[in-house]
Amino acid sequence: MKTDLPQSFRRLEYRPPVYTFDQVDLDIALDPSRTIVKSRIEVLPGKSFEPGAPLVLVGQELEFVSLRINGQAHRHFELTPESLAIHSLPNEGKDKFIVEIISICVPNKNTSLMGLYVSNGNFFTQCEAEGFRKITYFLDRPDVMARYRVTLQAREEECPVLLSNGNFLKQEKLPNGWHSATWEDPFPKPSYLFALVAGKLACIEETITTSSGAKKLLQIWVEPHDLNKTRHAMDSLIASIHWDEKRFGLELDLERFMIVAVSDFNMGAMENKGLNIFNTKFVLAQAETATDADFANIESVVAHEYFHNWTGNRVTCQDWFQLSLKEGLTVFRDQEFSADQMGSESGRAVKRIEDVRLLRQLQFPEDAGPMAHPIRPDEYQEINNFYTVTVYEKGSEVVRMYQTLLGREGFRKGMDLYFQRHDGQAVTCDDFLAAMADANNKDLSQFQRWYSQAGTPRVKVEEVYDPANGQYHLTLTQSCASTPGQKDKEPFHIPLKTRLLTAKNDQPEQLLELTQPTQSWTFQNVTERPVLSINRNFSAPIQLEFEQSEADLLTQFSVDDDPFNRWEAGQRIAMQMILGDRLPDAQLINSYRSLLLDPNLDPAFKELALTLPAETYLYEQCSSVDPQKIFMSRRAFRKELAKQLQLEWAALYQQNQTPGPFKSDAQSSGKRALKNLALSMLLEADPKIWAPMAVNQYQVADNMTDRYAALAALVIHGAKGAEECLRDFFSRFANDALVIDKWFALQSSRPPVDGKESTLLEVKRLREHPAFKLNNPNRARSVIHAFCANNPASFHQPDGSGYAFWVESVLALDPINPQVAARLARALDRWRLFAQPYQGQMKAALEQVAACQTLSPDVREVVGKALAD
Ligand code: BES
Ligand code: ZN
Repeated sequence: MKTDLPQSFRRLEYRPPVYTFDQVDLDIALDPSRTIVKSRIEVLPGKSFEPGAPLVLVGQELEFVSLRINGQAHRHFELTPESLAIHSLPNEGKDKFIVEIISICVPNKNTSLMGLYVSNGNFFTQCEAEGFRKITYFLDRPDVMARYRVTLQAREEECPVLLSNGNFLKQEKLPNGWHSATWEDPFPKPSYLFALVAGKLACIEETITTSSGAKKLLQIWVEPHDLNKTRHAMDSLIASIHWDEKRFGLELDLERFMIVAVSDFNMGAMENKGLNIFNTKFVLAQAETATDADFANIESVVAHEYFHNWTGNRVTCQDWFQLSLKEGLTVFRDQEFSADQMGSESGRAVKRIEDVRLLRQLQFPEDAGPMAHPIRPDEYQEINNFYTVTVYEKGSEVVRMYQTLLGREGFRKGMDLYFQRHDGQAVTCDDFLAAMADANNKDLSQFQRWYSQAGTPRVKVEEVYDPANGQYHLTLTQSCASTPGQKDKEPFHIPLKTRLLTAKNDQPEQLLELTQPTQSWTFQNVTERPVLSINRNFSAPIQLEFEQSEADLLTQFSVDDDPFNRWEAGQRIAMQMILGDRLPDAQLINSYRSLLLDPNLDPAFKELALTLPAETYLYEQCSSVDPQKIFMSRRAFRKELAKQLQLEWAALYQQNQTPGPFKSDAQSSGKRALKNLALSMLLEADPKIWAPMAVNQYQVADNMTDRYAALAALVIHGAKGAEECLRDFFSRFANDALVIDKWFALQSSRPPVDGKESTLLEVKRLREHPAFKLNNPNRARSVIHAFCANNPASFHQPDGSGYAFWVESVLALDPINPQVAARLARALDRWRLFAQPYQGQMKAALEQVAACQTLSPDVREVVGKALAD
């Protein structure tokens, strides 16, 4: 039998709602196996209302119990597995009427982690994007904004804590050991921002005063044994609140703001109004168990979700196609926040480089693959598949370009106007663009194409220096490859920060706005041949096609005053050499050496400059990828770099120690990063000599950054002592799930090592480990995604064994958790880019998954698009 054709949703088919909601009262009696939800909804005609129209609510996996309208039992309805259509409404629906529904859901059977579910015995919800419909029948769409009053009931012994959005109203004792709590959210919100949390939890609290003098209560709720790991999240929250007041004039609007940590969570965190719910990974930290990277991630995720309170909650999305309106903008805001927290100009550059590296490693491949879509998609089958690096990271780059074009002040004016116009509304990306354009009197009509066209634009650079006239001619030509459903592209509006580098240092930085297919500029008074520094600070998310000589690149690598482009020049030299299967030559080694010895550069910058481009980014530069060849030439390059600079690495290892009590500031963590790169390079150069030093660091470390880095260096280089340290690590941290995730992930992402068994065999053993759980997303990802997505040289085996493991894993995960399975399914997206035999085997693996009759819509969409021609 043939399965149904997948259903597609289209942006241009948006219609405003037929009905809308005013006040919503929910009464929820929590029971893990049978939760009773009573809703009372005030319904009004919506923008698409026509008299007599039925009220069509959506619901999923619900047991319907009863329906009343204006207090009377109502029999005119049709129930399907996905909807409740109510007919014969009073006065044809023209006046406000009250709908009351009772339904039942089963939280402890819910492994998808959407809607209401149980984790470690406590109740949590996740409603974005379309999870509210698994809690009750509703108009579960972001353009229906209502006021909520929520009463939670539970057995007091099992659920002493009962939380929901907004302000706390009252608590009551009930018969038979039950109790209740009532919460009211004063701000109208779409259903995806609803949340409840109930169970045995404990919190730390702070009271702060905001810029207008109001007192606010801040709480971080966790399982009681984790209370000692909440300080950093609280500090991050307080810093975020102050930053949003200062940079954007945006204040916290509720009496209290709560963050709750949960260990079963599909994503990183969720911005529910006043009640953010977080993956424990992005809340819990202390130096002994969390790395510097974990600390930084927590700071930025806490900030991100807090910033959504304005960009997402107060002003929300009209429909899910507009997702980048809130996500791209909020990622931009969290990136700017984190950059400001670095405390120095060079710190900002380090943050920028990290963000761009992520964009290139993940988003560029997406933009060139079968799932390519504009930051505002035109079509989707499953919205969960569109929480992508394109919507998020490219979306953030697009927001950053406004700021580059308009300046910080102009950008702020645009933001102010956006809130003035749209507070309390559900709007579109066009509304955001219009606010930016109107506040600055700038024509941004061509800029709009960043929202509608997919693909990474390429900009070709041609330069002519005319010494006789002291002129420099620059010609830029833009193009953009076809993407699914978009063959030809119109030119983009591309802001390029540019500077001619000269020995005299006499040329200013300029902003070139490339809007035509081809455009030329002439620079005057250029008295010597300059080196071009273009797309400084990565001012536009493009690929440059610039055949710069290695000599010019080396110059740029040592003198460019734009730290981003300085780093970039180094990456380009390394990339060309690795792809050409060359080893670093004496000149390049010398440049690396002087950079490493430069006392004016931050250790964190040095660490980035000496880290080679990722394998997956190298893939994107090829027309036919041989993953084993790329792995080997990158590894050979790295070994040479390690050996040639062995003395320097040894010296850096000593000089960048951070003695004394542990400090988590940017300076200290930069030193640790460089020291640990040095350690890894030493083991790369000669594991026999240096392994004991790594073992020693592992043993004496007082923080996770150093302990984990030493362990990773030992494991990755197959050094003596690796096994013992792995065993020690497991037993030392056996009770800390997040640390055990690291233990799994490190082994699954270990690249191939001479003389050691394949990582795939290791991974299959890990899957049988008593601590492995397929149901817990963090744990599943630490083994399966770590192998399939973060370990390319082990995954892409010529015999196809990695792909067979992928098939098995996708099919095992899909019935449990379609979202987690669909992410994993994306690991084969770029199959067409690979050489044989890889390509044929990847295709066969995709076909094997596609042949499964019972795939979720999530996985169906991913493999369907991967295989479509
Ligand atoms: N709104 C999202 C969370 C979300 C995403 C819920 C997809 C449901 C489906 C949240 O604001 C978010 O973007 N979280 C990110 C982390 C953030 C720092 C980029 C995440 O969870 O990965
Ligand atoms: Zn977000």
